[in-house]
Amino acid sequence: MEIKRVGVVGCGLMGAGIVEVCALGGYQVVVSEVDDDLLKRGLSRLETSMQRGVQRGKLAEADAAAARKRIRGTTNLSDLASSDLIIEAVVENMHLKKEVYRTLDDVCPPETIFASNTSSLSITEMASVTKRRERFLGIHFFNPVPVMKLVELIRGLQTSEDTMKTGRRFATSLGKTVVVCKDSPGFIVNLLLIPYLLDSVRALELGIATKEDIDTAIVLGLAHPMGPLTLLDYVGIDTTYFIAEAMFQEFKDTRYAAPPLMKQMVLAGLHGRKSGRGFYDYSEGK
Ligand code: CAA
Repeated sequence: MEIKRVGVVGCGLMGAGIVEVCALGGYQVVVSEVDDDLLKRGLSRLETSMQRGVQRGKLAEADAAAARKRIRGTTNLSDLASSDLIIEAVVENMHLKKEVYRTLDDVCPPETIFASNTSSLSITEMASVTKRRERFLGIHFFNPVPVMKLVELIRGLQTSEDTMKTGRRFATSLGKTVVVCKDSPGFIVNLLLIPYLLDSVRALELGIATKEDIDTAIVLGLAHPMGPLTLLDYVGIDTTYFIAEAMFQEFKDTRYAAPPLMKQMVLAGLHGRKSGRGFYDYSEGK
């Protein structure tokens, strides 16, 4: 099946990045948010990212202008009904995701492919609320979407070979490298990343070192682009907490149990860079 029109549900950190790479890849994109305010914020995040791309010489202004023309925002999920592929990027909440898919399943023709950008929830479980289980897969992007080259393609229990092929062609057309994974919590990257991130918070809680020294040790000792606590602030402490909780529920393995400090930070609204403060302070001028 040839994909020409892409629908994206959610214009948060990940959704906005997905809209950007799809529009730059030549696809017509309709993106939905729950209200005008969130839609405006998401589209302005996307605009900032494209401008950064232009400033860094990664993106020609003419290509950015052409991409802008391919993007349409909406607060009505039904406006995604004419898409060939719909990528859902709403918060990591199974109940909410199922609601989205039930609504979409009713308004979309049977050939529309559904994909989730979930980091940790079951593709098979999401597909189970639809009548298109063979045309349902995981397409997992990484943050920042325009920069990170990887896409994890997740095969649900009932995903067809054709759907996987279409998903691979699509992700490759965006300039991404594809890895394929079965529907297992955390897939490949988060299976390995989440215990590492949680351990960095445990190290901080235990007073093993300062946050700066934990981050410096990993940046200089392992040549990672960011230390784990900076990365937690970057991905979102709330998002990482939800992913860890989902993985803990599935595996019942303490490697995925979020440390108390993380839960407290989520409850206190210290969600990282996007909220102005996490392990570090991102308020004006900092
Ligand atoms: N469009 C295109 N290119 C862009 C861009 C944009 N909007 N913004 C930046 N770039 C390019 C820059 O030109 C630069 O390219 P070169 O190396 O060729 O010069 C590169 O991206 C790096 O950008 P910057 O110099 O602005 O920034 P940096 O060097 O400080 O790197 C970073 C920023 C890319 C975020 C880097 O710190 C990094 O890779 N961090 C780790 C990110 C990571 O691990 N992400 C995965 C998180 S896990 C996840 O997402 C999955 C999950 O389920 C939780």
